Amino acid sequence: MFDASEGMLSYARTKVADYVVAGRVPHCEQLVLPCPIPGGEQHYDAICVNFVLHHLGSPDDNIDTLTFPKATGALRNIYDALRKGGLFLMITCLRQQLTHCLWHFGLIEKVDDLFKEPILQLMCGDYNSIEKILMEVGFPAMQATVPLHEIIMKPQHYYNVDTASDPKFILAVSAFALLKKRDKEMGTNYMETYFQRLHDLKESNKLEALIDEKEGMRKTYGCLTVIAVQKPSKYT
Ligand SMILES: C[S@@+](CC[C@H](N)C(=O)[O-])C[C@H]1O[C@@H](n2cnc3c(N)ncnc32)[C@H](O)[C@@H]1O
Repeated sequence: MFDASEGMLSYARTKVADYVVAGRVPHCEQLVLPCPIPGGEQHYDAICVNFVLHHLGSPDDNIDTLTFPKATGALRNIYDALRKGGLFLMITCLRQQLTHCLWHFGLIEKVDDLFKEPILQLMCGDYNSIEKILMEVGFPAMQATVPLHEIIMKPQHYYNVDTASDPKFILAVSAFALLKKRDKEMGTNYMETYFQRLHDLKESNKLEALIDEKEGMRKTYGCLTVIAVQKPSKYT
């Protein structure tokens, strides 16, 4: 297991402590992508990157030309670290899944504006662009799966209307980081609007109806996408 943040790693170590003891998690180390993956080339049978690649933006990114030096560099290193026939899984949320299917997003004003950064347009965009980037580093055609029964957060957090204003929850959800950044840069107050809307809906007993509406969409369209590609094996 790797992550750029030591804090995330120490939390992860406590979560998978049994697996570490059993030798099933040999590494739990700091790694800042796009650096080479420890272990050397053709080392891993499978690599999974869970909600990380949308952080790999760079000033040279361009969605029109599909130029993403940092993200592509990371994918290239992942490709190199896989054995022939090895599997790469990458988990992301498409913009529509986030904005239409997660109930908190229904309370964020001008939510689409949050996805303007090129790396977010790529990673939360359409399957074709993601596939093109994967093919550029050598992977063949990808498969995308949307598990309809999955929710991103633990159900006790996801459905808990009180958690939705908890500073810990706000800290943990990337969209709120984007919202705060936008407020700071544009002088807007959309974070405050989110809290106000949450409060008003609760007070007027309308929050449950909103959650039900978004839940209906989540169960139909899903709220996350698993992208799978296999490095060509020596037989292909
Ligand atoms: C939404 S969290 C996902 C965390 C974890 N993968 C999981 O499944 O719970 C995003 C993570 O990406 C990590 N991250 C951001 N930039 C990174 C980079 N350049 N290299 C490696 N990890 C990075 C952050 O430290 C953060 O822990």
